[in-house]
Amino acid sequence: MAPIFFTFIFHFCFLSTLVSAISFNQIQLPGNATGPEALAFELGTSRFYTGIADGRILKYRGPITRFVDFGFAAPNRSKSVCDGTSTSNPNPVCGRPLGMALHHLTRRLYVCDAFFGFGVLGPEGGLVTQLSTAAEGEPYRFCNAVHVHQPTGNVYFTDASAVYGIRELETAISVQDSTGRLLKYDIKNKQVTVLFRNLSGAAGVAVDKEEKFALVSEFIANRTRKIWLQGHRPYRSEIVNSMPTPDNIKRTILNNFWLAAARVDRRMQSNLLPVGVRINGNGSVLETVNLEPWYGNKSVSEVQEYGSKLYIASRLVAFIGVYNH
Ligand SMILES: *[C@@H]1O[C@H](CO)[C@@H](O)[C@H](O)[C@H]1NC(C)=O
Ligand SMILES: *[C@@H]1O[C@H](CO)[C@@H](O)[C@H](O)[C@H]1NC(C)=O
Ligand SMILES: *[C@@H]1O[C@H](CO)[C@@H](O)[C@H](O)[C@H]1NC(C)=O
Ligand SMILES: *[C@@H]1O[C@H](CO)[C@@H](O)[C@H](O)[C@H]1NC(C)=O
Ligand SMILES: *[C@@H]1O[C@H](CO)[C@@H](O)[C@H](O)[C@H]1NC(C)=O
Ligand SMILES: *[C@@H]1O[C@H](CO)[C@@H](O)[C@H](O)[C@H]1NC(C)=O
Repeated sequence: MAPIFFTFIFHFCFLSTLVSAISFNQIQLPGNATGPEALAFELGTSRFYTGIADGRILKYRGPITRFVDFGFAAPNRSKSVCDGTSTSNPNPVCGRPLGMALHHLTRRLYVCDAFFGFGVLGPEGGLVTQLSTAAEGEPYRFCNAVHVHQPTGNVYFTDASAVYGIRELETAISVQDSTGRLLKYDIKNKQVTVLFRNLSGAAGVAVDKEEKFALVSEFIANRTRKIWLQGHRPYRSEIVNSMPTPDNIKRTILNNFWLAAARVDRRMQSNLLPVGVRINGNGSVLETVNLEPWYGNKSVSEVQEYGSKLYIASRLVAFIGVYNH
């Protein structure tokens, strides 16, 4: 039995290295757009939304029509002042959309804007309708990541810090801020509750299919936490993964999760190299995708599976990466 088994493994591996040629393509953003942070796909159309550095939410309508302006969260945003402004110093007048996720049934696009909190856009786009700027008396300082639980329509989102905004990220990192929160927008009563506090740079969130637990990345503390969503607050939690600088987390159809993170460069310890890791609900790494060939040491903020491909967002480039394997 054993020899047959090993022969099978050998042939399987050998063949798979032959057929699994990796390809990487770039979907360029429009000429004056840069810094896509997150991606929200429609169901079955290959169209997606992304928020960029100058405060716009763009919609990708396919290889011919490409990107169109879709929305924004800053009520006083002026195209002549804001369009084309870059990623290094986000401007509150322009807004900075980060996490976003579609509820497919209602076609509502939920958005976290670093300056304007948590809101929603209908299919017509335009100005984001603010849903919430504070929870339990504390304003959001850095609304960051969004996940919609499709069967219920409940929305989970994070405030990366209750003290430091997006323009004070360096300070938040240097003091190892741990005031981030996991929040829930309950679709039935339209109320926001704080599910979990004291997170250190809550940069990403994804909830499992059954809504039993959330995985939340803690960017500053280099860890990913599993938070059980049942029982009484504060919920039980455990640290399940320790990849450095974890950012957005996206669930796959098979109830695994893609985490955008980094690994330490063996040649130079201070250098972090971007990776996508597929993890299970217990944080165990099932697959690692090395993104250094296309991103060098630039960090990536999201890796999302759609169809058979991985779509990659990074605040430091002007394209969406499409990784095919
Ligand atoms: C930026 O690009 C968009 C679309 O290509 C265009 O409508 C807009 O006028 C441009 N803005 C500037 C300031 O170049
Ligand atoms: C938008 O502009 C109006 C009028 O100048 C001002 O009252 C309001 O505070 C501004 N809102 C924001 C969010 O900047
Ligand atoms: C957790 O957060 C609460 C409120 O945000 C704060 O009062 C408390 O001191 C924090 N606890 C720790 C251990 O940091
Ligand atoms: C997170 O990881 C990076 C890279 O290894 C390191 O420089 C940083 O000090 C770590 N942060 C914490 C809070 O351990
Ligand atoms: C990232 O790469 C650039 C050039 O490729 C290099 O100059 C820079 O020092 C690197 N950053 C770090 C933190 O190693
Ligand atoms: C995750 O951990 C739980 C409890 O330790 C275990 O029952 C379960 O099988 C694990 N799941 C996976 C996918 O490893």
